[in-house]
Amino acid sequence: MIRTKGLTKDYGGGRGVFDLDLHVPKGRIFGYIGPNGSGKTTTIRLLCGLLRPTTGQAFINDIEVRSRNLREIRRLIGYMPDDFGVYDHMSVWEYLDFFCAAYRIPPKERKERIQQVFEWTEASDMRDYRVASLSRGMHQRIGLARTLLHDPEILILDEPASGLDPYARVQMRATICRLRDAGKTILLSSHILPELASVCDLVGIIENGRLVATGAVDEITHRHREHVVLTLSIDSDADRALTAALQFPAVGEAAVSGNELRLVFNGTRAQVADLNRFLVEHDVRVMELKEEETDLESAFLAVTGRAEAGPGKTGPGSGNPSPGNAAGTHRDS
Ligand SMILES: Nc1ncnc2c1ncn2[C@@H]1O[C@H](COP(=O)(O)OP(=O)(O)O)[C@@H](O)[C@H]1O
Ligand SMILES: [Mg+2]
Repeated sequence: MIRTKGLTKDYGGGRGVFDLDLHVPKGRIFGYIGPNGSGKTTTIRLLCGLLRPTTGQAFINDIEVRSRNLREIRRLIGYMPDDFGVYDHMSVWEYLDFFCAAYRIPPKERKERIQQVFEWTEASDMRDYRVASLSRGMHQRIGLARTLLHDPEILILDEPASGLDPYARVQMRATICRLRDAGKTILLSSHILPELASVCDLVGIIENGRLVATGAVDEITHRHREHVVLTLSIDSDADRALTAALQFPAVGEAAVSGNELRLVFNGTRAQVADLNRFLVEHDVRVMELKEEETDLESAFLAVTGRAEAGPGKTGPGSGNPSPGNAAGTHRDS
C-alpha cells in the first residue's frame, strides 16, 4: 500500500531524510517513531506529494507519488498534519460540512458521510460544539474525522496522539484500531514510544533522517533488547528477597517496591526457572513471576545508541522504579 525506494529529501547541511525503504502492507498499522527533528514530517509530506524528493521514489498502491498522479494519490490518502488549522467560529458539524464541500462530496451524501466519520471517531456528541471550545483530545478526534470524510483507504497521521492526556490517548488508540478493523492501512508517527507499542503491527525507527530499524514490534524488541526485566510478586519479607536475588549470578540490578521485586536479568530463559528455585530455597515465597513486555523503548534506546547515556535503561516514563537507578533501594527510601 505504501512503499518507498531510496526516498531522499536533502535540505542541505545533513538535514532531511535519506535513502528510505519503507513498506506498509494493506490493513496494517505502521508506527513511525523518532525523536523531534528526525525526519518524520518530511517523510509524511513526501508520501502525500506535498514535497518533491531529491532522489528516490514513493508509491501509494503502486502509483508513483508525483505531480501528474496527485489527484489520484489524494483520493487514496487521508492526511492529518501535526498542526492543522481550526475554524474557531464554526460548530463541529459546520466544520465537517465545510470540508465535505471542499472534497466536492455532493450535498445529498454529506449527512451520511459525517455520520459515518462520527461513528468511527465516536464524536457524534460533539456535533454542535464550537470548534474553539474543544479540548485537545476532541480537537484531534475532529481532525481525524475530517481526514476520513472522503473515505480514504490509507491514513497518514502525523503525531495524532501528541499532547493528549492519558484518557484521550486511550481513546485515540481505540479509534485507530477500529479504523484498521474497517480495512484502513495506517501510518502514524510519534516521538513518544509507549504511545504506539500497543497498537502498531509494524514500526520503523528513524534517527537523523535514516531508518535505523524496521519490522514487527516484537521482532524489533527481541532483536534489540539488551536485557530482560522480571517482575516478581512476593509474599514474604521483600528486603530478604532482594538480598537473595542479588546473589543469583544472572541478576544485574534489583529494586523493591511494596511486595514487588523488579530485576534486570541477563540470563537465558531456562535460568529464569533456576532463579525461581533459588529464591524458594532462600525462603522467598514467589507468588508471581513475569517478564516485562513493553520493551520497545529499550529497543529504541539500543538502536539509536542512546542506551549508553546512563543507568535506568528501562527508560523514562516507565512509571515504576527503575532497577537501573534504584539498585538495592529499600521500599521506605
Ligand atoms: N523546509 C525545510 N527546510 C530546511 N530544513 C528543514 C525543513 N523542514 C524540516 N527541516 C529539517 O529537517 C529535519 C527533519 O525535520 P522534520 O521532518 O520536521 O522532523 P520530525 O517531524 O521528525 O520532527 C530537521 O532537522 C528540520 O530542521
Ligand atoms: Mg514532525
